[in-house]
Amino acid sequence: MSRFTDSTRRSFVSDLRSIGVDCATSTYRAAKSFETSSSALFVHEFLRKPTIVGAVWPSSTGLARRMACPVPVQSDGLVVELGAGTGSVTQALLDRGVSPMRLRIVERSAALAQHLRRRFPALPIWQADAADLINLLPEGATVDAVVSSLPLRSLAPQLVSAILDQWRSVLRPGGLLVQFTYALRGESAELQNDFAACDSSIVWKNMPPAKVMVYRRVDTLVADELEAHEL
Ligand SMILES: C[S@@+](CC[C@H](N)C(=O)[O-])C[C@H]1O[C@@H](n2cnc3c(N)ncnc32)[C@H](O)[C@@H]1O
Repeated sequence: MSRFTDSTRRSFVSDLRSIGVDCATSTYRAAKSFETSSSALFVHEFLRKPTIVGAVWPSSTGLARRMACPVPVQSDGLVVELGAGTGSVTQALLDRGVSPMRLRIVERSAALAQHLRRRFPALPIWQADAADLINLLPEGATVDAVVSSLPLRSLAPQLVSAILDQWRSVLRPGGLLVQFTYALRGESAELQNDFAACDSSIVWKNMPPAKVMVYRRVDTLVADELEAHEL
């Protein structure tokens, strides 16, 4: 004889429902508290080092998506993210379908790098300076794209110049550089020689609104040949 009566079934189902509701509620609460704690950490890091963090608040999902959008998915070369912060752009790169095997993440702040390691345990997170990029990458590595949220306008000019040298060295000819800025007007003078601007768009749903710029690494050999032809 079955001992699973209608009344026990009803109470079992109601127990399951309450567990389901509780699970959903606690998952939502956990996600919310993670978001709050990661934003709090970001603000804390900004207050400690405003010119290095360069933003009061992490990038919005819209800005992060726009940064990830130009990155080629069907390719084997590395994708290097610089200044990952709490990981908004990192998440957008993964959501876009960039394989974790291709991603290399660089963040200078120890606290933010630790946070990134907890958030993305499967990704290589380097707590390092973007000006040391060549030393971090394996020799001869092919880099398809550099996705940078570095605050180039507030970093020291010598540091910016060292960082740009690294980009020139590591990016393969034709490789992409994606950078955002809060300066909605004008072009970046430093990038004009070796990088060809191919796209720029403004993301209004961000605090503050930001401009995403996409550049292609000019093939210097081809450019030299073309120039020689023109002479
Ligand atoms: C504007 S925040 C962007 C954070 C995150 N990508 C976002 O979009 O929310 C810039 C980040 O770059 C990091 N950073 C600044 N200078 C750096 C450097 N030289 N090397 C590596 N990271 C750096 C800061 O610590 C900060 O996390």
